[in-house]
Amino acid sequence: MVTGVTRVTRLEVAQLLATVDELADLLTDTVDDGASIGFLAPLGRAAAVDWWRERADGVAAGQLAVWAASIGERMVGTVSLAFPDKPNSRHRAELVKLMVHRDARGEGLGRRLLTIAEDAASAAGITLLHLDTETDSPAEHLYRSTGWTRAGVIPDYAASPDGVLRPTTLYYKRVGAGTVADVGAGATARGR
Ligand SMILES: CC(C)(COP(=O)(O)OP(=O)(O)OC[C@H]1O[C@@H](n2cnc3c(N)ncnc32)[C@H](O)[C@@H]1OP(=O)(O)O)[C@@H](O)C(=O)NCCC(=O)NCCS
Repeated sequence: MVTGVTRVTRLEVAQLLATVDELADLLTDTVDDGASIGFLAPLGRAAAVDWWRERADGVAAGQLAVWAASIGERMVGTVSLAFPDKPNSRHRAELVKLMVHRDARGEGLGRRLLTIAEDAASAAGITLLHLDTETDSPAEHLYRSTGWTRAGVIPDYAASPDGVLRPTTLYYKRVGAGTVADVGAGATARGR
């Protein structure tokens, strides 16, 4: 258990690059715990650091927004929004890489990070969020209890860290006050 005041910061490129080690710790902890978040176990620390470092271009281009939650000097959570590059999709974003370190779970941080990402999406003119998550994972409870709508299940979508193909559940949530027809709304606030 980590105690103290939790600070959540949206990472600019320099901050992201300065904290890739902490972000990598979070990612390896999540994969070690068996969460299906895009990687197979064991995820080496160097690979995790490289993966985060490669995200910097997306942040610089306004295609990715990354938040980090810290208690004191220790990073304990993160969440990202990925903005599609297609001209017809500027109204939507994908919620990705919501992770809370095992030492900090069950204290409301996952819910708080989700709210921060949703509010930022609304403020950026986004009207539709979507995500996928391993079917029957603990995260499903979080999404259902925060107003996300279950769109369906895709079987054998991705391998869990131990290499077994598992289904994924797709969720979406309408946010903000815009309309789906207003496809240009998200571009300005994302800095593009
Ligand atoms: C999903 C995750 C982010 C939740 O983080 P957290 O800080 O523990 O979440 P919170 O404390 O805000 O809890 C949110 C809700 O989920 C519930 N919850 C959290 N962990 C749970 C678990 N293991 N089993 C069942 N419910 C759980 C909480 O009870 C709470 O619901 P409640 O308010 O109705 O009681 C965290 O478990 C995690 O990082 N998991 C691995 C990565 C992952 O699966 N990310 C999602 C990928 S799409």
